[in-house]
Amino acid sequence: MTIEIPVPDDWHVHLRDDDMLDAVVGYTARRFRYAMVMPNLAAPITDVADAEAYRDRIVAAAPDDAVDFRPQMTLYCSSAVDLADLRAGIESGVIRAVKYYPAGATTNSAAGGTAMADFIDLYEVLADTDTRLLVHAESTDPSVDIFAREAAFIERELIPLAARLPELGITLEHVSTKAGIAFVDDHEQAGATVTPHHLAKERSDLLADGMRPDLYCKPVINSAEDRDALVAAATSGRADFFLGTDSAPHPTTAKYGPKAKAGVFNAAYGLEVVADVFDRAGAIDNLAAFTSTNGAACYGVEPSERRLRLEKSDIDADLATTFSTANGDEVVLFGADAATRWSVTLLD
Ligand code: NCD
Ligand code: ZN
Repeated sequence: MTIEIPVPDDWHVHLRDDDMLDAVVGYTARRFRYAMVMPNLAAPITDVADAEAYRDRIVAAAPDDAVDFRPQMTLYCSSAVDLADLRAGIESGVIRAVKYYPAGATTNSAAGGTAMADFIDLYEVLADTDTRLLVHAESTDPSVDIFAREAAFIERELIPLAARLPELGITLEHVSTKAGIAFVDDHEQAGATVTPHHLAKERSDLLADGMRPDLYCKPVINSAEDRDALVAAATSGRADFFLGTDSAPHPTTAKYGPKAKAGVFNAAYGLEVVADVFDRAGAIDNLAAFTSTNGAACYGVEPSERRLRLEKSDIDADLATTFSTANGDEVVLFGADAATRWSVTLLD
């Protein structure tokens, strides 16, 4: 089977900085056009000058054979954001979106919020400038079960916020549960990114046959029933679901220890993983909607005119399962098995 799609966009990616940026950016730049770059560096990106400087470092690190790579910068929602600076950054085209992290929910989220309602003035700037709020929806209430945290956050924080600001565009990032799908179903102002790993795996894969640090991410991969709901939504072709890989590299030293860091690195083979999911669901004809056109429409851009071919064929070559950074860190690649079933060619 062969299918051609417009070059995909990745509407949620962590490119990091320094040696890690140098090592990972090519995986994204050779496969994707727009890349919504998350602002959760060790020092969060909270002003436009920092976002611009970060964009310059990303562009400088990208390889010469990048497709048509266009990093889109985000600011980290915090009290450090100056609203005039934000507005100017949006108007000048540097800032594409703002990301809300609940403090303590995930990697580099210490500077996040304790209540979404604390940032209404900021969201009003977004609504006013037709700019989306990207939300990591996960309760940090320790009394809420880890597998119920997305649903709890949606119930307690996101539904009230959406009702208060119906004109605010919201992207529910890395949706992981039926509750997340229901939120998007119920709110015209909302869309969602879905990751390759949340589509391909469920929590038994993470925990049943030896604990798998490489599948550990936030929000945590949930039940098979939740996974099935995500697959149904993503493969339906519906306009409000689109690819955001949430590719998030961590060195093995941070993954294989007493406390694994959250994040799955899937920029290398995430597209093949998604093709596998769509193929198994009998929905390969809707692949382009999910990877290349729905997200573009949501963010007000045309799909790429360049095309990429995916061909289902067994690949003999030994595919890399790790890469190393210049300073010697090793990172595990997610999805190498799917990559043995698909060959990907960029067309002229
Ligand atoms: C991300 C990271 O490592 O930066 N980790 C993750 O598990 N997804 C942060 C995030 O998006 O939650
Ligand atoms: Zn992320």
